[in-house]
Amino acid sequence: MVEICPSADWRPIFKQSLEFAQHQVRALIERDPDFYPMYTQGGHWRHTGEAWTHWCDGFLPGMMWVFHRHTKDSDWARYAQHYTTPLEPRKMDRNVHDLGFIFLSTYHRWYKQTGDEKLNDVVIQAGQTLAKRFQKKGRYLASFIGPESIFIDVMANVGIIFYAALKTGDDALLRTAMDHCLTTRRVLIRGDGSSSHEGIFDLETGEFLRQSTHQGWRGDSCWSRGLAWAIYGFTSSYRAVKDPRFLHTAQCCADFFIRETPADGVPPMDYDTPSEEPQYRESSAAAITAAGLLQLAKVVPDPAKGALYGAAAQRILLTLCSSDYLAKGIDGWEGILRQGIYHLRKGLGVSESVMWGDYFFVEALERALRDTEED
Ligand code: GLY
Repeated sequence: MVEICPSADWRPIFKQSLEFAQHQVRALIERDPDFYPMYTQGGHWRHTGEAWTHWCDGFLPGMMWVFHRHTKDSDWARYAQHYTTPLEPRKMDRNVHDLGFIFLSTYHRWYKQTGDEKLNDVVIQAGQTLAKRFQKKGRYLASFIGPESIFIDVMANVGIIFYAALKTGDDALLRTAMDHCLTTRRVLIRGDGSSSHEGIFDLETGEFLRQSTHQGWRGDSCWSRGLAWAIYGFTSSYRAVKDPRFLHTAQCCADFFIRETPADGVPPMDYDTPSEEPQYRESSAAAITAAGLLQLAKVVPDPAKGALYGAAAQRILLTLCSSDYLAKGIDGWEGILRQGIYHLRKGLGVSESVMWGDYFFVEALERALRDTEED
């Protein structure tokens, strides 16, 4: 169970970590201009390891937008625009289910800073493109694996469809996003608040067949990053449309996380890893969860629950800021957070830095340091 510690003087610790994050990103773009990394090998971003799927390009510029918001340093806005602009053609990309990751972290942040409607149009188009993955019979957005597959990861992307629907007043688009969330809730979230990575449908009938996984331990286990995507995604979906079912699901998943995660707040890669197997921790799941819990804390009606989620997020971030996870002082290590895992079965990015872990860590630190929450 996550140990809720009395709030120490966390602000200077979070600020120093955010400064270290800026140092690492600046070093990366000086060393490797115009390179969009995914995961490190031995602490190095540039290598020839496979990507599996093409989903991470928004996270590096996304961090730059967060740094700009935090520091108001115009250099960060300049870098962010430089790294964001080449992503625009991806707004038509039908091959991935990750357009929320790519555009909410970049064009959406850019639009909010400038109010330029052309930037908003890019975000809306990306939401409309993602909605084309909708499977009418099963009522879900298909994962990149194929039309029969739903992923929990899509919950962290469906927000861009809610956004496009609400901005354009498109009820059909809104229904698509609602249905995807309700189907995910029904087939991938269990009664104890744990989540499955993937679900498989019968394409002829739309019947749900079974839970499955690619990155977790097995189909009926709980892969911790999937749980993190669920906490973040159901919270964002609740914030978008205020459907109490989404809040309920976000809280069930958050309560599972708090109950089942070790005291320091960093979960195992999979909660059901057999005891005789290596017990990997997964720092990116911790970072995503912290970013989700900080938002959940602000929307739950019960103040005691809000305080619990806020304190759990603070516990997680304090651990991630410690030398066990932060790469500060590790000579030659190019990422920000260590001990992330991309794909254990494929041997990709195991106990390494991963771009999304660094991004959500930076997002969570900046959120925690901000006094008011308006996005
Ligand atoms: N494919 C998304 C993830 O690894 O979480």
